[in-house]
Amino acid sequence: MRKVALIFGITGQDGSYLAELLLDKSYEVHGTIRRSSSFNTGRIDHLYQDPHEFPDTRLHLHFCDVTDGASIRNVFDAVNPTEVYNLAAQSHVRVSFDQPEYTADVVALGAMRVLEALRCHADNVRYYQASSSEMFGSAPPPQGLDTPFHPRSPYACAKVFAFHQTINYREAYGLFACNGILFNHESARRGETFVTKKITRAATRIQLGLQKKLFLGNLKAKRDWGHARDYVKAMWMMLQQDEPKDYVVATGETRSVQDFLDLVFAKLDLSVPEHVEINPRYFRPTEVAVLCGDPSSSHAMGWKPETSFEQLVEEMVNDDLITAENEKLIRDRRL
Ligand code: NAP
Ligand code: GDD
Repeated sequence: MRKVALIFGITGQDGSYLAELLLDKSYEVHGTIRRSSSFNTGRIDHLYQDPHEFPDTRLHLHFCDVTDGASIRNVFDAVNPTEVYNLAAQSHVRVSFDQPEYTADVVALGAMRVLEALRCHADNVRYYQASSSEMFGSAPPPQGLDTPFHPRSPYACAKVFAFHQTINYREAYGLFACNGILFNHESARRGETFVTKKITRAATRIQLGLQKKLFLGNLKAKRDWGHARDYVKAMWMMLQQDEPKDYVVATGETRSVQDFLDLVFAKLDLSVPEHVEINPRYFRPTEVAVLCGDPSSSHAMGWKPETSFEQLVEEMVNDDLITAENEKLIRDRRL
């Protein structure tokens, strides 16, 4: 049986782990990348092989943007995938308040463009939509499949639109389309402006004398944090089931930003009051106070998280320590 996956958003945190998983499972993997004036493939460079040198490579990249319907249709025609993972997004919640129209174009209409291309240009394809716990917004925890959405950002509103489109394409056209409602998941590959990575990156740099202060926003917010490597397994599992359904993927535990900060600083023997300041620019016009998922739907398909919160923090801190040490070496050589 052909196993050909197409990943929209392969260059992101999740895209890179998913590509690794699917290559390990002998898939031919196609990913979409965006034209940029600087390289944006850092997270998948270790997987990529130049087809001139390696004609048998199973990882292929295509220029495509989900704001451009023609590019989506072209990539479908070129690849003829059996599984499609739509991870493409302007995924930063705070930025979505500054760029609401663009965020909706990518996150909401982008998903619909992919679904429409899938309906018209492909047969028997299984579709995964990257839905988000942000959609629950101010709904009280624990949040599960029966919890009503109350989105609190342009990003979350756009994800709610994509969520319902995915269900509508499933019901209207019989597509095998699934929503994975994933709670926050992190890793050493997390974008540097998300709070976990911002903290581990700054703390390790502070320890090596590369910076003095870390400026943060709301420390009281609580999140259900898991590891991205575990969460991409759930994405794949959803598309291997007999029936298309929606799932919640979470650890079922919640911790505050303050808890995360305290743990990282304690690990590095640093003082929070000495180095951390609050800057209101990082507050959001509307905040999501507490996210804590009810993962029973994903447990029912046999998925469980494999990495503990403490292991996640340890991995992120250790990775950033290496980055900071390299940065210090380069700086010292220049002096
Ligand atoms: P990420 O690191 O921000 O990656 C987003 C990916 O989307 C990148 O490959 C990015 O490409 C691509 N992209 C952005 N705009 C695009 C466009 N117009 N056309 C095509 N591709 C575009 O996000 P992530 O953490 O891996 O998350 C993956 C997906 O899961 C996203 O949809 C996110 O909203 C959703 N999600 C994430 C979490 C989480 O905690 N990580 C939780 C729930 C849901 P560039 O590299 O070129 O920017
Ligand atoms: N980014 C950021 N920067 N967040 C901060 C800061 C800061 O300096 N200070 C406090 N926070 C708080 C935010 O207000 C929020 O309550 C919490 O830390 C987590 O923020 P992020 O790490 O930016 O993640 P998010 O929860 O807003 O969104 C992430 O998770 C969603 C799933 O729930 C993103 O990955 C989304 O794409 C994803 O859908």
